[in-house]
Amino acid sequence: MATTEELIAAAWQARDKAYAPYSSFQVGAALLASNGQVFPGCNVENISYGLTNCAERVAIGTAVAAGVQNFDKLVVVADTAEPISPCGACRQVLAEFGVKTVVLANRAGSIEFSLEELLPRASTGILDGP
Ligand code: THU
Repeated sequence: MATTEELIAAAWQARDKAYAPYSSFQVGAALLASNGQVFPGCNVENISYGLTNCAERVAIGTAVAAGVQNFDKLVVVADTAEPISPCGACRQVLAEFGVKTVVLANRAGSIEFSLEELLPRASTGILDGP
């Protein structure tokens, strides 16, 4: 199983692939599946700004397209003063696929959260869900 340090390194590599001509803000992600596979993600922007995909959701989509739907941990990295956190939309998508742990990293270090901390009661009650 990849260590958090290995996932952080994978996320920095993914960040190099970011398509961010509008914001020039590159974000990378690495998603650890329960079966040990690691899936990369980077942000993919669009001239119609609202169509932009965040790195976190690109990683989820990459994994799902590969036939993988169970995940343990997501790492997100950016070259910022404070480690960035996933936007609200991404938190909901991470919850959909049961991501348990989210690691936020910048060049200086990392902080780990449970997804429950970042998005409590993500789907409680919706369609009688948990
Ligand atoms: N972005 C991400 O990819 N993930 C985040 O957690 C925050 C923001 C992207 C979206 C957009 O391409 C750029 O960063 C600026 O918001």
